[in-house]
Amino acid sequence: MKCIRSEIIGHGHYTPKKVLTNDDMAKMVETSDEWITTRTGIKARSIVEDEFTSDLAYNAAKMAVDKAGIEPSEIDLVILASITPDNTTPSTALKVAAKLGVKTGTPAFDISAACSGFVYALTMADNMIQMGQIKTAVVIGAESLSKITDWTDRNTCVLFGDGAGAVVIRAKEGDGSNQDVGVLSTKIYADCYHYDSLKTDGGVSSTKTTGFIEMDGKEVFKYAIGSLAQAAEEAARLANINIQDIDWLLPHQANIRIIEGVGKKLELPEEKVIVNIAQHGNTSAASIPLALSEKIEDGTIKKGDLIVLTAMGAGFTWGGAVVRL
Ligand code: ACO
Repeated sequence: MKCIRSEIIGHGHYTPKKVLTNDDMAKMVETSDEWITTRTGIKARSIVEDEFTSDLAYNAAKMAVDKAGIEPSEIDLVILASITPDNTTPSTALKVAAKLGVKTGTPAFDISAACSGFVYALTMADNMIQMGQIKTAVVIGAESLSKITDWTDRNTCVLFGDGAGAVVIRAKEGDGSNQDVGVLSTKIYADCYHYDSLKTDGGVSSTKTTGFIEMDGKEVFKYAIGSLAQAAEEAARLANINIQDIDWLLPHQANIRIIEGVGKKLELPEEKVIVNIAQHGNTSAASIPLALSEKIEDGTIKKGDLIVLTAMGAGFTWGGAVVRL
């Protein structure tokens, strides 16, 4: 049966120039390259200096719009997934939309779902496209996590990095089968009973500050593997595909041991699992679109490839999507 799909017609990514290696981290807190590498898989992370989240988001979105070859006037929606906005209000998406030069009246808003933010944002945009409300959306994940990192806490500061990734998606008629190009399924979840497992220790209405990230690492670790695998399986089921038939699993880049655990749980060979955590660390909502864009750009992910995205983060929130490029 004919249906509307959201085709990815452009991809983009951006990371700040300043890079902190594990050896740099070892000068700041009591840690070592060996500890960080074996426990997390992270070797380096980019850190913003004189840029804001909106700048990271704009650079990624601009690349995606240019790759898509569309005019700014063709953009019907801008969604930015982020937990590190420039201002508490208005949304950072509006700043990015203005820099992109969209027409007045174009809706733009932020989504706060931590590391699952991009999958949440993609779900919203895809649903609006399927409903026929819009044709073309820019969906971005961007974070300046370094601004909410406690640089004296070795339990957390070694994990995070800054960056952005974006896609442009556009309505395209499909035949409703799993051979269609575009977003074939999305599924998002939350378990609101884990609010305290991973959070900032403050916020606008509670402390009038932004707070710094604190987490129960073991609790997050335990929950992450199961939820990431479950979201991937459910998205595959909804898209009517066998997970063994996918070309790529693109999991949120939180920790190499979590990524490997998810791959094993899904019985996927290592070669099918996208990993870029060594260079970027955990960039929260930016993690999936950043990896997606990098791997399309370097030719790893090709036109026609079937990809399962899966993310999990604070909340807890999690979710999955199946996309054929
Ligand atoms: N360098 C050296 N030692 C450290 C560091 C560090 N950077 N951080 C912690 N340690 C110490 C601890 O203090 C502890 O010492 P102790 O035994 O004397 O108390 C020891 O290392 C072991 O700590 P554990 O917490 O047991 O280490 P673990 O193997 O669990 O690894 C980690 C910690 C990497 C945080 C892990 O729990 C994890 O990956 N959790 C998932 C959390 C995550 O990825 N969060 C990202 C955000 S959430 C998301 O994106 C899904």
